[in-house]
Amino acid sequence: MYVYDAHDHQIVRERVAQFRRQTERYLAGDLKPEEFLPLRLQNGLYVQRVAPMLRIAVPYGLLNSKQLRKLAHITRVYDKGYAHFTTRQNVQLNWPQLEQVPDILAELADVEMHAIQTSGNCIRNVTSDQYAGVAEDEVTDPRPYCEIIRQWSTFHPEFAFLPRKFKIAVSGSEQDRAAILVHDIGLQLVRNNQGETGFKVFVGGGLGRTPVIGSLIREFLPERHILSYLDAILRIYNLYGRRDNKYKARIKILVKAMGPQVFAEKVEAEWLHLKDNASTLPANEIERAKGFFTLPAYEAIDDLAASDALAKAAQDNLALSRWLARNVKGHRQPGYAAVVLSLKPTGVAPGDVTDKQLEAVAELADKYSFGEIRATHEQNLVLADVRKADLPSLWAEAKAHGFATPNIGTLTDMICCPGGDFCSLANAKSIPVAEALQRKFDDMDYLYDLGDLTLNISGCMNACGHHHVGHIGVLGVDKKGEEFYQVQLGGSAANDASLGTVLGPSFGRDDMPAVIQKILDVYVENRTPEEQFIDTYRRIGVTPFKERVYAKAG
Ligand code: HEM
Ligand code: SF4
Repeated sequence: MYVYDAHDHQIVRERVAQFRRQTERYLAGDLKPEEFLPLRLQNGLYVQRVAPMLRIAVPYGLLNSKQLRKLAHITRVYDKGYAHFTTRQNVQLNWPQLEQVPDILAELADVEMHAIQTSGNCIRNVTSDQYAGVAEDEVTDPRPYCEIIRQWSTFHPEFAFLPRKFKIAVSGSEQDRAAILVHDIGLQLVRNNQGETGFKVFVGGGLGRTPVIGSLIREFLPERHILSYLDAILRIYNLYGRRDNKYKARIKILVKAMGPQVFAEKVEAEWLHLKDNASTLPANEIERAKGFFTLPAYEAIDDLAASDALAKAAQDNLALSRWLARNVKGHRQPGYAAVVLSLKPTGVAPGDVTDKQLEAVAELADKYSFGEIRATHEQNLVLADVRKADLPSLWAEAKAHGFATPNIGTLTDMICCPGGDFCSLANAKSIPVAEALQRKFDDMDYLYDLGDLTLNISGCMNACGHHHVGHIGVLGVDKKGEEFYQVQLGGSAANDASLGTVLGPSFGRDDMPAVIQKILDVYVENRTPEEQFIDTYRRIGVTPFKERVYAKAG
């Protein structure tokens, strides 16, 4: 994990002091709301429906147990005792008092955390794969590159006032688990035929009002050029991106308007001037960044023996074996596994954790996973380095704290934005829809039979809940002041990324469980033995689903 040096500490502390003065001046009436607005946004502070909302940066989703304990303390002392993990691996507080936000930021600074650049028209938190460094299919660990990009982008003077917010995701694996194709820039680490490390560069993806899948603009970018190439992309965006219309300001609109090829040509031309300048990364800088992400002190373990022992332990324990099958993932180190702590038990807003649970996760991380934890973009947490021998006891403890729902990858592991319960932009509530669906579909055998399925819910077209890229997507819509829900089918956030197709007219909230049931019925009736929901959908198309859902009764 990256560790702050004296400069980092100083920069963050100075920012806290600066924001404290700004907040005091605002509260004293010396700063007008419109003057305070850009200042608070630069520090992650939104004004929301019921209270301010503070978004805290979690670089590429990585946290240590000390930080978790501090978050627990902050939610307890300054908030209502819970925090929310978002689809961009960040943490949000829903109830801070404005006058206390500087204190919260000071507390965060103590554990090398902050809220800088978590909102506003700048480069936001860089996101990545939750299994970075441990995934079996990994080409190379993306975290050193994420950290390099983070350091380059934080306070970058040229990119502090972009036309719109800007999101970068990096994946180091063949399987995309970071939704890189729906980011402004998606970077996939690859090796070329000579064995050199570099990036496939995708640009112009994004969700929201105009969802777009990113375009490949470069097949192979040698790793030393990553920053100069990002410079070139951002310069072209900064220069040509629209500033006259907020809804047309994202880079996806520019790439679409120019065409990916023309956009790529402009980037390449700009890059020629930058290619070998000061931001070219010397090998020792890359090595230095890698030095923060070395392997933990793994024990030498006989993998076969460990797996055998585990199989025995699970033999007569259905609950444990279900959890092992769903929430435990492969690992490149023999004898180890990565464990997903589900933040989606029925009745809890997806991604919400209490102060007590945060402390419990910190305990589990210390005890079982070298004190580290990762946040996933599906709003769960991951203990990445657990000895297989420890899985049964970890399971028992996770269960006691409500993290062991064995639903990872199933329908009830849904992504859901805060919606109308918290967000002032919402057209409709989303948390009650998630809860109604969790209650209806609580039979695990049925969920396992359905297989891997993503269901994503957003309360408005800003798409914070990634509804466009859910196999089933639910979008809150407003009709003459009333809340309705539109259903979309066929989205995917994986390597084969696709955007969902709208099924038809929207539904009332109470109808949603029955509507989803009909969709699932069509899938179950039509699937072949090897198909998952998305495969069947792609084969049979939207029509059979439409016909069933909108069939007249009787
Ligand atoms: C409650 C306060 C929030 C506000 C005011 C807010 C605002 C917005 C807005 C305006 C957009 C559309 C941006 C655009 O298309 O240009 C957006 C998109 C997005 N937000 Fe939020 N959001 C909030 C909470 C969240 C939460 C809780 C999450 C995660 C669960 C989240 C993650 C995202 C993501 C992933 C997008 C996708 C669109 C993209 O960047 O392509 N936001 N948000
Ligand atoms: S999708 Fe809409 S309702 Fe949901 S958090 Fe984003 S802006 Fe708010």
